[in-house]
Amino acid sequence: MGVAERGSVVLAHLTDAHVAPMGKRNAALKDQSVPIFRDLIDQIRERRADLTLFGGDNIDNHGHGEEDLEAFVRMSSALDRWSCIVGNHEAEAPLPGQISKEMFASAVAGHGIEPGRLHFSESVGDVRVIGIDTTLVGSSGGYVSQAMMRYLAGELNKADEEHIVVLGHHLLYRAWEPHSLQSWDKDYLVGNRDALIALLASHPRVRAYLCGHHHASRIQRIAARGSSGGFYHILTASPVSFPHAARLLTFEHNGIRVETLRPRIAGVIEEGRAAILTGRKAQRYGALGARRSFLQYVAGRTADNDVMLPYAHAPVSVRPQQLSSERRVAAAEPTTSASA
Ligand SMILES: [Fe+2]
Repeated sequence: MGVAERGSVVLAHLTDAHVAPMGKRNAALKDQSVPIFRDLIDQIRERRADLTLFGGDNIDNHGHGEEDLEAFVRMSSALDRWSCIVGNHEAEAPLPGQISKEMFASAVAGHGIEPGRLHFSESVGDVRVIGIDTTLVGSSGGYVSQAMMRYLAGELNKADEEHIVVLGHHLLYRAWEPHSLQSWDKDYLVGNRDALIALLASHPRVRAYLCGHHHASRIQRIAARGSSGGFYHILTASPVSFPHAARLLTFEHNGIRVETLRPRIAGVIEEGRAAILTGRKAQRYGALGARRSFLQYVAGRTADNDVMLPYAHAPVSVRPQQLSSERRVAAAEPTTSASA
């Protein structure tokens, strides 16, 4: 059953798959990347998503780029329709054992990007999806070029669909708010995000910006004025890192219904939970002095995972004063850090 019979568009968002048939376990279960990816693809097929969006870092590209790419394309081809963008792992200045973003684009040509064009704009039912390149070769942080900004503005102006969704790899907003950490700003955010947020916020049918890169699950309503305006910043976790997830987004009459997909492989979540605590991100999080544990932070709350997101405003359950006061702090101190 697709959009024609169901009447509502279903998008799958699967980002930071880090497919690596020869991957080694570190804070992420890269040794399990292939069975995890295959299982999530199966689940997306079972749920008959209309379009699957791969949000970058689709392959690990760390010593065996060609093998990673071959496995990614082979498994993705089981889907009826998929589109992808690149992440920083596809955009390295290639060393031996790595492929360039042009090589990646040429292997997936016809699915979103193609050689010489690392962005796309497609419609599925009443949803317009615009994929953009937020990568900067040689940096893990993000940047959106002037040319990319002009392309996005043009596509936003042309779009006549009821809903618009923009897909990027890097974050536009601190998922870790109300905390602030300079090293995370640098590594995870789009450097010139203010211009991008302003552009997206100026189009009232932009419902959400989908991203990954940070390997955590959080949904925030950003760029709102009081309780109106703005759009959702939907950060999806990585299949290979705890909490091991992809998302389904259903564009219903009043809002986007968000569901989380988790790999159906025995032991993965438990092993991933232990592995992620050994990483640098867990260490840095410890320096924040946050009330929630690192595991709680990356997994997100129910409101970050299985939730109905009204188009016009933030869900009532996550609209206490706290959110707007957190937003004010972040807006007032765009580059400060409490600890780094
Ligand atoms: Fe990334």
